[in-house]
Amino acid sequence: MATTEPISQDAQSLQELARRHLWLHFSRMGAYDAEHEIPVIVRGEGCHVYDDRGRRYLDGLSALFCVNIGHGRADIAQAGADQARELGFFTNWSYAHPRAIELAARIADLAPGDLNRVFFTSGGSESVESALKLARHYHKLTGHPNKTKVIAREVAYHGTSLGALSATGITAIRQPYEPFTPGGCHVPNTNLYRLKPGYGAETLAEAVAERIEFEGPDTVAAVIMEPVQNAGGCFTPPDGYFQRIREICDEYDVLMISDEVICSWGRLGEWFGAQRYGYQPDIITTAKGITSAYAPLGAMIVSDRIAEPFLQGTSSFTHGFTFAGHPIACAVALANIDAMEREGVLDNVRANEQAFRDMLESLRDIPIVGDVRGAGYFHAIELVKDRETKASFDDDESEWLLRGFLSGELYRRGLICRADDRGDPVIQLSPPLIAGPDEFAEIESILRPTLEDAWAQVQRRR
Ligand SMILES: Cc1ncc(COP(=O)(O)O)c(C=O)c1O
Repeated sequence: MATTEPISQDAQSLQELARRHLWLHFSRMGAYDAEHEIPVIVRGEGCHVYDDRGRRYLDGLSALFCVNIGHGRADIAQAGADQARELGFFTNWSYAHPRAIELAARIADLAPGDLNRVFFTSGGSESVESALKLARHYHKLTGHPNKTKVIAREVAYHGTSLGALSATGITAIRQPYEPFTPGGCHVPNTNLYRLKPGYGAETLAEAVAERIEFEGPDTVAAVIMEPVQNAGGCFTPPDGYFQRIREICDEYDVLMISDEVICSWGRLGEWFGAQRYGYQPDIITTAKGITSAYAPLGAMIVSDRIAEPFLQGTSSFTHGFTFAGHPIACAVALANIDAMEREGVLDNVRANEQAFRDMLESLRDIPIVGDVRGAGYFHAIELVKDRETKASFDDDESEWLLRGFLSGELYRRGLICRADDRGDPVIQLSPPLIAGPDEFAEIESILRPTLEDAWAQVQRRR
Protein backbone atom coordinates (compact mmCIF):
# COMPACT_ATOMS: atom_id res chain seq x y z
CA MET A 1 0.00 0.00 0.00
CA ALA A 2 1.30 3.44 -0.89
CA THR A 3 1.82 6.05 1.80
CA THR A 4 -1.12 8.07 3.00
CA GLU A 5 -1.65 11.29 1.09
CA PRO A 6 -3.62 14.09 2.71
CA ILE A 7 -7.19 13.69 1.58
CA SER A 8 -7.96 15.78 -1.50
CA GLN A 9 -10.91 18.10 -1.83
CA ASP A 10 -12.64 15.67 -4.19
CA ALA A 11 -12.07 12.72 -1.91
CA GLN A 12 -13.28 14.75 1.05
CA SER A 13 -16.48 15.74 -0.67
CA LEU A 14 -17.11 12.15 -1.84
CA GLN A 15 -16.72 11.03 1.80
CA GLU A 16 -19.25 13.57 2.95
CA LEU A 17 -21.72 12.73 0.20
CA ALA A 18 -21.32 9.02 0.86
CA ARG A 19 -21.90 9.46 4.57
CA ARG A 20 -24.94 11.61 3.92
CA HIS A 21 -26.62 9.74 1.05
CA LEU A 22 -25.25 6.31 0.24
CA TRP A 23 -26.63 3.29 2.08
CA LEU A 24 -23.99 0.55 2.11
CA HIS A 25 -25.22 -3.04 2.15
CA PHE A 26 -24.73 -5.15 5.26
CA SER A 27 -22.90 -2.21 6.87
CA ARG A 28 -23.16 -0.40 10.17
CA MET A 29 -23.59 3.07 8.73
CA GLY A 30 -23.28 4.58 12.19
CA ALA A 31 -19.70 3.33 12.44
CA TYR A 32 -18.45 5.76 9.77
CA ASP A 33 -17.26 9.13 11.03
CA ALA A 34 -14.33 11.48 10.54
CA GLU A 35 -11.94 8.87 11.98
CA HIS A 36 -13.50 5.91 10.19
CA GLU A 37 -13.84 6.65 6.51
CA ILE A 38 -15.97 4.79 4.03
CA PRO A 39 -13.54 2.98 1.73
CA VAL A 40 -13.96 4.45 -1.76
CA ILE A 41 -12.50 2.28 -4.52
CA VAL A 42 -12.00 4.17 -7.75
CA ARG A 43 -10.25 1.86 -10.21
CA GLY A 44 -8.82 -1.60 -10.70
CA GLU A 45 -6.13 -3.36 -12.65
CA GLY A 46 -5.59 -7.13 -12.66
CA CYS A 47 -5.60 -8.37 -9.05
CA HIS A 48 -5.34 -4.86 -7.58
CA VAL A 49 -7.68 -1.96 -6.90
CA TYR A 50 -6.96 1.64 -5.91
CA ASP A 51 -8.83 3.92 -3.55
CA ASP A 52 -9.63 7.61 -3.90
CA ARG A 53 -6.26 8.54 -2.39
CA GLY A 54 -4.29 6.38 -4.82
CA ARG A 55 -3.60 3.61 -2.30
CA ARG A 56 -3.24 0.16 -3.82
CA TYR A 57 -4.84 -3.00 -2.46
CA LEU A 58 -4.61 -6.63 -3.41
CA ASP A 59 -8.20 -7.66 -4.04
CA GLY A 60 -8.11 -10.96 -2.18
CA LEU A 61 -11.87 -11.38 -2.48
CA SER A 62 -12.38 -10.62 -6.19
CA ALA A 63 -14.78 -7.84 -5.19
CA LEU A 64 -17.07 -10.30 -3.35
CA PHE A 65 -16.25 -13.41 -5.40
CA CYS A 66 -17.10 -11.63 -8.66
CA VAL A 67 -14.20 -10.32 -10.72
CA ASN A 68 -12.89 -13.71 -11.78
CA ILE A 69 -10.95 -12.44 -14.81
CA GLY A 70 -9.45 -9.53 -12.88
CA HIS A 71 -9.99 -5.79 -12.90
CA GLY A 72 -9.58 -3.22 -15.64
CA ARG A 73 -10.28 -5.32 -18.74
CA ALA A 74 -11.03 -2.81 -21.48
CA ASP A 75 -11.92 -5.61 -23.91
CA ILE A 76 -14.72 -6.94 -21.70
CA ALA A 77 -16.06 -3.43 -21.16
CA GLN A 78 -15.87 -2.81 -24.91
CA ALA A 79 -18.09 -5.80 -25.62
CA GLY A 80 -20.77 -4.11 -23.48
CA ALA A 81 -20.30 -0.76 -25.22
CA ASP A 82 -20.54 -2.36 -28.67
CA GLN A 83 -23.74 -4.13 -27.67
CA ALA A 84 -25.23 -0.92 -26.24
CA ARG A 85 -24.79 0.74 -29.63
CA GLU A 86 -26.45 -2.15 -31.47
CA LEU A 87 -29.33 -2.89 -29.08
CA GLY A 88 -29.12 -1.20 -25.68
CA PHE A 89 -31.96 -3.15 -24.18
CA PHE A 90 -34.69 -5.54 -24.97
CA THR A 91 -36.41 -7.79 -22.52
CA ASN A 92 -36.59 -11.58 -22.26
CA TRP A 93 -40.31 -11.37 -21.46
CA SER A 94 -41.72 -13.07 -24.58
CA TYR A 95 -38.86 -11.78 -26.75
CA ALA A 96 -35.36 -12.99 -27.40
CA HIS A 97 -32.29 -11.19 -28.63
CA PRO A 98 -29.15 -12.68 -30.18
CA ARG A 99 -26.83 -12.29 -27.17
CA ALA A 100 -29.25 -14.02 -24.76
CA ILE A 101 -29.69 -16.87 -27.24
CA GLU A 102 -25.97 -17.25 -27.85
CA LEU A 103 -25.16 -17.07 -24.15
CA ALA A 104 -27.86 -19.59 -23.21
CA ALA A 105 -26.47 -22.02 -25.78
CA ARG A 106 -22.91 -21.42 -24.56
CA ILE A 107 -23.87 -22.01 -20.94
CA ALA A 108 -25.79 -25.18 -21.86
CA ASP A 109 -22.67 -26.41 -23.64
CA LEU A 110 -20.45 -25.81 -20.60
CA ALA A 111 -22.88 -26.99 -17.92
CA PRO A 112 -22.87 -30.62 -16.80
CA GLY A 113 -25.18 -33.27 -18.32
CA ASP A 114 -28.59 -32.23 -19.56
CA LEU A 115 -28.66 -28.78 -17.92
CA ASN A 116 -29.71 -27.26 -21.21
CA ARG A 117 -32.30 -24.60 -20.40
CA VAL A 118 -31.17 -21.20 -19.16
CA PHE A 119 -33.41 -18.70 -17.38
CA PHE A 120 -31.58 -15.40 -16.92
CA THR A 121 -31.81 -13.22 -13.82
CA SER A 122 -30.02 -10.08 -12.66
CA GLY A 123 -28.10 -11.63 -9.77
CA GLY A 124 -27.72 -14.42 -7.24
CA SER A 125 -30.77 -13.87 -5.03
CA GLU A 126 -32.97 -13.72 -8.11
CA SER A 127 -31.45 -16.97 -9.36
CA VAL A 128 -32.16 -18.70 -6.04
CA GLU A 129 -35.65 -17.18 -5.86
CA SER A 130 -36.32 -18.46 -9.38
CA ALA A 131 -35.10 -21.96 -8.53
CA LEU A 132 -37.27 -22.20 -5.42
CA LYS A 133 -40.33 -21.05 -7.35
CA LEU A 134 -39.54 -23.37 -10.24
CA ALA A 135 -39.24 -26.33 -7.87
CA ARG A 136 -42.68 -25.65 -6.40
CA HIS A 137 -44.25 -25.09 -9.79
CA TYR A 138 -42.62 -28.21 -11.25
CA HIS A 139 -44.10 -30.38 -8.53
CA LYS A 140 -47.53 -28.81 -9.03
CA LEU A 141 -47.38 -29.50 -12.75
CA THR A 142 -46.33 -33.10 -12.14
CA GLY A 143 -49.10 -33.86 -9.66
CA HIS A 144 -47.43 -33.20 -6.28
CA PRO A 145 -48.92 -29.87 -5.18
CA ASN A 146 -47.85 -30.24 -1.54
CA LYS A 147 -44.16 -30.43 -2.31
CA THR A 148 -43.17 -26.90 -1.29
CA LYS A 149 -40.44 -27.11 1.38
CA VAL A 150 -36.76 -26.58 0.76
CA ILE A 151 -33.91 -28.18 2.67
CA ALA A 152 -30.76 -26.10 3.03
CA ARG A 153 -27.79 -26.21 5.38
CA GLU A 154 -27.08 -24.41 8.61
CA VAL A 155 -25.13 -21.16 8.27
CA ALA A 156 -25.50 -21.26 4.46
CA TYR A 157 -26.15 -17.99 2.63
CA HIS A 158 -28.48 -18.17 -0.36
CA GLY A 159 -29.45 -14.53 -0.73
CA THR A 160 -31.58 -11.85 0.83
CA SER A 161 -34.93 -11.73 -0.99
CA LEU A 162 -37.62 -13.20 1.25
CA GLY A 163 -37.79 -16.53 -0.57
CA ALA A 164 -34.01 -16.94 -0.76
CA LEU A 165 -33.83 -15.86 2.87
CA SER A 166 -36.03 -18.80 3.87
CA ALA A 167 -33.23 -21.04 2.58
CA THR A 168 -30.46 -18.93 4.12
CA GLY A 169 -29.44 -20.55 7.38
CA ILE A 170 -27.90 -17.61 9.24
CA THR A 171 -30.06 -16.65 12.19
CA ALA A 172 -28.82 -13.06 12.50
CA ILE A 173 -29.66 -12.36 8.85
CA ARG A 174 -33.04 -14.12 9.03
CA GLN A 175 -34.48 -12.88 12.31
CA PRO A 176 -35.19 -9.20 11.51
CA TYR A 177 -37.34 -10.19 8.51
CA GLU A 178 -39.42 -13.06 9.83
CA PRO A 179 -41.90 -14.37 9.00
CA PHE A 180 -41.03 -15.25 5.45
CA THR A 181 -41.99 -17.92 2.96
CA PRO A 182 -42.66 -21.02 5.00
CA GLY A 183 -40.85 -24.25 4.29
CA GLY A 184 -37.17 -23.48 4.87
CA CYS A 185 -35.63 -26.43 6.75
CA HIS A 186 -31.99 -26.71 7.77
CA VAL A 187 -29.62 -29.62 8.25
CA PRO A 188 -25.99 -29.73 9.42
CA ASN A 189 -23.44 -28.41 6.96
CA THR A 190 -20.14 -30.07 6.08
CA ASN A 191 -18.00 -28.31 8.68
CA LEU A 192 -15.50 -31.12 9.07
CA TYR A 193 -13.43 -29.14 11.60
CA ARG A 194 -16.40 -29.06 13.97
CA LEU A 195 -18.53 -32.06 13.13
CA LYS A 196 -21.96 -32.05 14.77
CA PRO A 197 -22.25 -34.55 17.61
CA GLY A 198 -23.63 -37.79 16.28
CA TYR A 199 -22.34 -37.25 12.74
CA GLY A 200 -19.27 -38.52 10.93
CA ALA A 201 -18.09 -37.18 7.58
CA GLU A 202 -19.57 -40.22 5.89
CA THR A 203 -23.01 -39.85 7.52
CA LEU A 204 -23.56 -36.09 7.01
CA ALA A 205 -25.65 -36.60 3.88
CA GLU A 206 -28.04 -38.82 5.84
CA ALA A 207 -29.22 -35.72 7.70
CA VAL A 208 -31.02 -34.75 4.49
CA ALA A 209 -32.85 -38.09 4.24
CA GLU A 210 -33.77 -37.89 7.92
CA ARG A 211 -35.12 -34.37 7.50
CA ILE A 212 -37.16 -35.35 4.43
CA GLU A 213 -38.65 -38.24 6.42
CA PHE A 214 -39.34 -35.91 9.35
CA GLU A 215 -41.04 -33.25 7.21
CA GLY A 216 -42.89 -35.83 5.13
CA PRO A 217 -41.52 -36.67 1.67
CA ASP A 218 -44.68 -35.42 -0.05
CA THR A 219 -44.01 -31.90 1.34
CA VAL A 220 -40.39 -31.43 0.25
CA ALA A 221 -39.70 -29.75 -3.10
CA ALA A 222 -35.94 -29.24 -3.20
CA VAL A 223 -32.56 -29.42 -1.55
CA ILE A 224 -30.29 -26.41 -2.08
CA MET A 225 -26.55 -26.56 -1.40
CA GLU A 226 -23.37 -24.87 -2.53
CA PRO A 227 -20.56 -27.14 -3.80
CA VAL A 228 -18.31 -25.45 -1.21
CA GLN A 229 -20.33 -23.58 1.42
CA ASN A 230 -19.23 -19.99 1.70
CA ALA A 231 -20.73 -18.81 5.00
CA GLY A 232 -18.98 -20.42 7.94
CA GLY A 233 -15.79 -20.45 5.88
CA CYS A 234 -15.46 -22.61 2.76
CA PHE A 235 -16.82 -25.96 3.93
CA THR A 236 -15.84 -28.60 1.37
CA PRO A 237 -17.89 -31.78 0.96
CA PRO A 238 -16.55 -35.09 2.25
CA ASP A 239 -15.98 -37.80 -0.39
CA GLY A 240 -19.20 -39.16 -1.77
CA TYR A 241 -21.36 -36.54 -0.05
CA PHE A 242 -23.01 -35.09 -3.15
CA GLN A 243 -23.38 -38.50 -4.77
CA ARG A 244 -25.40 -39.59 -1.72
CA ILE A 245 -27.42 -36.34 -1.79
CA ARG A 246 -28.25 -37.10 -5.45
CA GLU A 247 -29.44 -40.60 -4.49
CA ILE A 248 -31.58 -39.20 -1.68
CA CYS A 249 -33.13 -36.60 -4.00
CA ASP A 250 -33.96 -39.31 -6.54
CA GLU A 251 -35.39 -41.60 -3.89
CA TYR A 252 -37.75 -38.92 -2.56
CA ASP A 253 -38.50 -37.06 -5.82
CA VAL A 254 -36.84 -33.90 -4.51
CA LEU A 255 -35.01 -31.49 -6.83
CA MET A 256 -31.30 -30.97 -6.26
CA ILE A 257 -30.29 -27.33 -6.62
CA SER A 258 -26.58 -26.56 -6.74
CA ASP A 259 -26.21 -22.93 -5.68
CA GLU A 260 -23.10 -21.88 -7.57
CA VAL A 261 -23.40 -18.13 -7.29
CA ILE A 262 -19.78 -18.27 -6.08
CA CYS A 263 -18.57 -21.74 -7.07
CA SER A 264 -19.03 -21.54 -10.85
CA TRP A 265 -17.04 -19.80 -13.61
CA GLY A 266 -13.69 -21.19 -12.57
CA ARG A 267 -13.72 -20.42 -8.85
CA LEU A 268 -13.06 -24.11 -8.13
CA GLY A 269 -11.02 -24.71 -11.31
CA GLU A 270 -14.03 -25.93 -13.35
CA TRP A 271 -16.81 -24.07 -15.09
CA PHE A 272 -19.18 -25.39 -12.46
CA GLY A 273 -18.60 -26.63 -8.93
CA ALA A 274 -20.77 -29.70 -9.61
CA GLN A 275 -18.14 -30.76 -12.18
CA ARG A 276 -15.40 -30.53 -9.59
CA TYR A 277 -17.24 -32.91 -7.27
CA GLY A 278 -18.75 -35.08 -10.01
CA TYR A 279 -22.47 -34.73 -9.34
CA GLN A 280 -25.43 -33.91 -11.53
CA PRO A 281 -27.88 -31.38 -10.08
CA ASP A 282 -31.34 -30.66 -11.52
CA ILE A 283 -30.77 -26.91 -11.34
CA ILE A 284 -27.68 -24.73 -11.03
CA THR A 285 -28.06 -21.17 -9.78
CA THR A 286 -25.29 -18.79 -10.77
CA ALA A 287 -24.37 -15.08 -11.03
CA LYS A 288 -21.25 -13.03 -10.09
CA GLY A 289 -18.38 -14.49 -12.16
CA ILE A 290 -20.58 -15.18 -15.20
CA THR A 291 -19.66 -11.67 -16.41
CA SER A 292 -16.70 -11.30 -14.02
CA ALA A 293 -19.12 -8.63 -12.74
CA TYR A 294 -18.45 -6.21 -15.57
CA ALA A 295 -22.25 -6.18 -15.81
CA PRO A 296 -24.89 -7.61 -13.45
CA LEU A 297 -26.24 -10.98 -14.57
CA GLY A 298 -27.37 -14.24 -13.06
CA ALA A 299 -28.92 -17.43 -14.37
CA MET A 300 -30.83 -20.51 -13.38
CA ILE A 301 -29.72 -23.46 -15.48
CA VAL A 302 -32.33 -26.21 -15.62
CA SER A 303 -32.21 -29.83 -16.72
CA ASP A 304 -34.29 -31.00 -19.67
CA ARG A 305 -36.31 -33.20 -17.33
CA ILE A 306 -37.35 -30.31 -15.06
CA ALA A 307 -37.96 -27.90 -17.95
CA GLU A 308 -40.08 -30.39 -19.88
CA PRO A 309 -43.48 -29.84 -18.18
CA PHE A 310 -43.12 -26.08 -18.81
CA LEU A 311 -42.68 -26.61 -22.54
CA GLN A 312 -46.04 -28.35 -23.04
CA GLY A 313 -49.35 -26.91 -24.24
CA THR A 314 -50.50 -23.84 -22.32
CA SER A 315 -48.17 -24.13 -19.33
CA SER A 316 -45.58 -21.46 -18.62
CA PHE A 317 -43.27 -20.42 -15.81
CA THR A 318 -45.08 -17.27 -14.72
CA HIS A 319 -41.99 -15.54 -13.41
CA GLY A 320 -39.48 -13.01 -14.69
CA PHE A 321 -37.44 -9.85 -14.11
CA THR A 322 -37.37 -6.91 -16.51
CA PHE A 323 -33.60 -6.60 -16.68
CA ALA A 324 -32.75 -10.31 -16.60
CA GLY A 325 -30.74 -11.33 -19.63
CA HIS A 326 -29.97 -7.70 -20.42
CA PRO A 327 -28.23 -7.62 -23.83
CA ILE A 328 -25.28 -5.64 -22.48
CA ALA A 329 -24.78 -8.12 -19.66
CA CYS A 330 -25.09 -11.09 -22.05
CA ALA A 331 -22.55 -9.56 -24.44
CA VAL A 332 -20.21 -9.00 -21.52
CA ALA A 333 -20.70 -12.58 -20.31
CA LEU A 334 -19.87 -13.94 -23.77
CA ALA A 335 -16.71 -11.81 -23.92
CA ASN A 336 -15.79 -12.91 -20.41
CA ILE A 337 -16.21 -16.61 -21.20
CA ASP A 338 -14.28 -16.17 -24.46
CA ALA A 339 -11.42 -14.50 -22.61
CA MET A 340 -11.40 -17.14 -19.87
CA GLU A 341 -11.16 -19.88 -22.51
CA ARG A 342 -8.57 -18.09 -24.63
CA GLU A 343 -6.37 -17.25 -21.67
CA GLY A 344 -6.66 -20.61 -19.92
CA VAL A 345 -8.01 -19.09 -16.71
CA LEU A 346 -9.35 -22.42 -15.41
CA ASP A 347 -5.97 -24.01 -16.11
CA ASN A 348 -4.36 -21.22 -14.09
CA VAL A 349 -6.54 -22.09 -11.10
CA ARG A 350 -5.81 -25.80 -11.43
CA ALA A 351 -2.07 -25.19 -11.82
CA ASN A 352 -1.82 -22.81 -8.86
CA GLU A 353 -4.44 -23.85 -6.34
CA GLN A 354 -1.95 -26.05 -4.49
CA ALA A 355 0.50 -23.14 -4.23
CA PHE A 356 -2.33 -20.97 -2.89
CA ARG A 357 -3.23 -23.65 -0.37
CA ASP A 358 0.41 -24.20 0.62
CA MET A 359 0.81 -20.48 1.31
CA LEU A 360 -2.23 -20.54 3.60
CA GLU A 361 -1.12 -23.79 5.25
CA SER A 362 2.26 -22.17 5.97
CA LEU A 363 0.45 -19.80 8.35
CA ARG A 364 -0.44 -22.68 10.65
CA ASP A 365 2.59 -21.92 12.81
CA ILE A 366 0.69 -18.85 14.09
CA PRO A 367 -1.33 -20.16 17.06
CA ILE A 368 -4.48 -18.23 16.09
CA VAL A 369 -4.80 -20.31 12.89
CA GLY A 370 -7.07 -23.22 13.78
CA ASP A 371 -8.00 -24.57 10.38
CA VAL A 372 -7.29 -23.95 6.69
CA ARG A 373 -9.90 -25.21 4.24
CA GLY A 374 -11.45 -24.70 0.85
CA ALA A 375 -10.88 -25.61 -2.78
CA GLY A 376 -9.67 -23.85 -5.91
CA TYR A 377 -9.31 -20.13 -5.33
CA PHE A 378 -11.83 -20.20 -2.50
CA HIS A 379 -10.31 -20.70 0.95
CA ALA A 380 -10.81 -19.79 4.58
CA ILE A 381 -8.68 -19.69 7.69
CA GLU A 382 -10.60 -20.33 10.91
CA LEU A 383 -9.30 -18.37 13.87
CA VAL A 384 -9.25 -19.93 17.33
CA LYS A 385 -8.26 -18.98 20.87
CA ASP A 386 -6.79 -22.36 21.59
CA ARG A 387 -5.68 -24.70 18.88
CA GLU A 388 -5.56 -27.76 21.13
CA THR A 389 -9.17 -27.47 22.28
CA LYS A 390 -10.40 -25.62 19.14
CA ALA A 391 -11.93 -23.07 21.54
CA SER A 392 -13.47 -20.28 19.52
CA PHE A 393 -13.94 -16.62 20.36
CA ASP A 394 -17.16 -15.57 22.05
CA ASP A 395 -19.32 -12.83 20.50
CA ASP A 396 -17.55 -9.96 22.26
CA GLU A 397 -14.10 -11.28 21.47
CA SER A 398 -15.08 -11.93 17.89
CA GLU A 399 -16.46 -8.40 17.57
CA TRP A 400 -13.21 -6.98 18.85
CA LEU A 401 -10.99 -9.33 16.84
CA LEU A 402 -12.73 -9.12 13.48
CA ARG A 403 -14.33 -5.69 13.41
CA GLY A 404 -12.15 -3.96 15.93
CA PHE A 405 -8.84 -5.20 14.59
CA LEU A 406 -8.47 -7.55 11.64
CA SER A 407 -10.82 -6.03 9.04
CA GLY A 408 -9.41 -2.54 9.41
CA GLU A 409 -5.82 -3.63 9.82
CA LEU A 410 -5.73 -5.92 6.78
CA TYR A 411 -7.27 -3.17 4.68
CA ARG A 412 -4.89 -0.57 6.08
CA ARG A 413 -1.97 -2.80 5.15
CA GLY A 414 -3.28 -3.26 1.62
CA LEU A 415 -5.25 -6.51 1.54
CA ILE A 416 -8.95 -6.78 0.82
CA CYS A 417 -10.33 -10.02 2.17
CA ARG A 418 -13.21 -11.01 4.39
CA ALA A 419 -13.12 -11.28 8.16
CA ASP A 420 -16.41 -13.00 8.84
CA ASP A 421 -18.18 -14.36 11.90
CA ARG A 422 -21.48 -15.55 10.50
CA GLY A 423 -20.27 -18.91 11.77
CA ASP A 424 -17.05 -19.21 13.77
CA PRO A 425 -14.56 -16.40 12.97
CA VAL A 426 -12.77 -16.84 9.66
CA ILE A 427 -10.66 -14.93 7.19
CA GLN A 428 -11.73 -15.69 3.65
CA LEU A 429 -9.60 -15.38 0.55
CA SER A 430 -10.86 -15.71 -2.97
CA PRO A 431 -8.54 -13.83 -5.33
CA PRO A 432 -9.14 -13.18 -9.04
CA LEU A 433 -8.54 -16.35 -11.02
CA ILE A 434 -5.58 -14.77 -12.83
CA ALA A 435 -3.62 -14.63 -9.56
CA GLY A 436 -0.45 -16.69 -9.17
CA PRO A 437 2.59 -17.06 -6.90
CA ASP A 438 3.41 -13.32 -6.86
CA GLU A 439 -0.04 -12.44 -5.57
CA PHE A 440 0.05 -15.29 -3.05
CA ALA A 441 3.36 -13.93 -1.75
CA GLU A 442 1.82 -10.47 -1.47
CA ILE A 443 -1.17 -11.88 0.43
CA GLU A 444 1.16 -13.71 2.79
CA SER A 445 3.32 -10.64 3.36
CA ILE A 446 0.28 -8.86 4.77
CA LEU A 447 -1.64 -11.72 6.32
CA ARG A 448 1.22 -13.21 8.34
CA PRO A 449 2.25 -10.11 10.31
CA THR A 450 -1.39 -9.13 10.80
CA LEU A 451 -2.34 -12.55 12.20
CA GLU A 452 0.79 -12.50 14.37
CA ASP A 453 -0.26 -9.11 15.74
CA ALA A 454 -3.79 -10.38 16.28
CA TRP A 455 -2.45 -13.33 18.26
CA ALA A 456 -0.22 -11.04 20.33
CA GLN A 457 -3.27 -8.93 21.16
CA VAL A 458 -5.33 -12.00 22.06
CA GLN A 459 -2.63 -12.98 24.54
CA ARG A 460 -2.41 -9.47 25.96
CA ARG A 461 -6.14 -9.39 26.58
CA ARG A 462 -6.08 -12.64 28.55
C1 LIG B 1 -24.31 -19.00 -2.63
C2 LIG B 1 -24.98 -17.69 -2.83
N1 LIG B 1 -26.26 -17.65 -3.21
C3 LIG B 1 -26.90 -16.48 -3.42
C4 LIG B 1 -26.26 -15.29 -3.25
C5 LIG B 1 -26.98 -13.99 -3.48
O1 LIG B 1 -26.45 -13.34 -4.58
P1 LIG B 1 -26.70 -11.76 -4.83
O2 LIG B 1 -25.97 -11.04 -3.77
O3 LIG B 1 -26.14 -11.55 -6.22
O4 LIG B 1 -28.17 -11.55 -4.79
C6 LIG B 1 -24.93 -15.27 -2.84
C7 LIG B 1 -24.21 -14.01 -2.64
O5 LIG B 1 -23.08 -13.95 -2.24
C8 LIG B 1 -24.27 -16.51 -2.62
O6 LIG B 1 -23.00 -16.55 -2.23
